[in-house]
Amino acid sequence: DYTAQPFVPDRGGLPALRAAAAECRGCPLHRDATQTVFGAGKASARVMLVGEQPGDQEDRQGKPFVGPAGHLLDRALAEAGLDPADAYVTNAVKHFKFTRAEPRKRRIHKAPTLRETAACGPWLAAELDRVEPELIVVLGATAGKALLGSSFRVTRVRGTVLEEEIHGRPQRLVPTVHPSAVLRADDREAAYRGLLSDLEVAARALA
Ligand code: URA
Ligand code: SF4
Repeated sequence: DYTAQPFVPDRGGLPALRAAAAECRGCPLHRDATQTVFGAGKASARVMLVGEQPGDQEDRQGKPFVGPAGHLLDRALAEAGLDPADAYVTNAVKHFKFTRAEPRKRRIHKAPTLRETAACGPWLAAELDRVEPELIVVLGATAGKALLGSSFRVTRVRGTVLEEEIHGRPQRLVPTVHPSAVLRADDREAAYRGLLSDLEVAARALA
């Protein structure tokens, strides 16, 4: 089955991982995307934020959360009192998956399958191994399933501090909704306040 595993170096820090991930062909998603979008931030970061997959802007710029969802996330992090310098930001899947309504038209985000998410899992595991965050903020269902399994339901556990074993290591996690879901919500203000209050739980857990 698809897997990134043979591409993941077992030595070296984040720069070695990032360089190797640029060459990953562990699943078919590398074919249509522009580039691998690896995580960003310092190995000393106290908190790791895990999203779904890069979007259109991230695919062009090669950095996670630099588009509209990222701007919303930055605002919410600042308001919750989480220092971006303390955060390592990444995605469950490192390549942009999309469809086009018509040739040469706008690229429309498409959710990764469980198979693609599982294939990319070794990169996320390697990032966790190098960063060893005190807390993981889980942004939405794809990240939740990648880290906690397919029974994960964001509505059931959002805004709580979970203690789970991840890759053999005890880990604290705070799940919340994906910032893109806030942008799509009918009541954006209410959805934003929900995201913010979950991030405040994360900020208190770190304090
Ligand atoms: N959505 C994500 O899940 N990740 C990004 O990097 C951007 C948008
Ligand atoms: Fe590799 Fe992940 Fe990209 Fe698939 S999505 S090619 S597993 S980096």
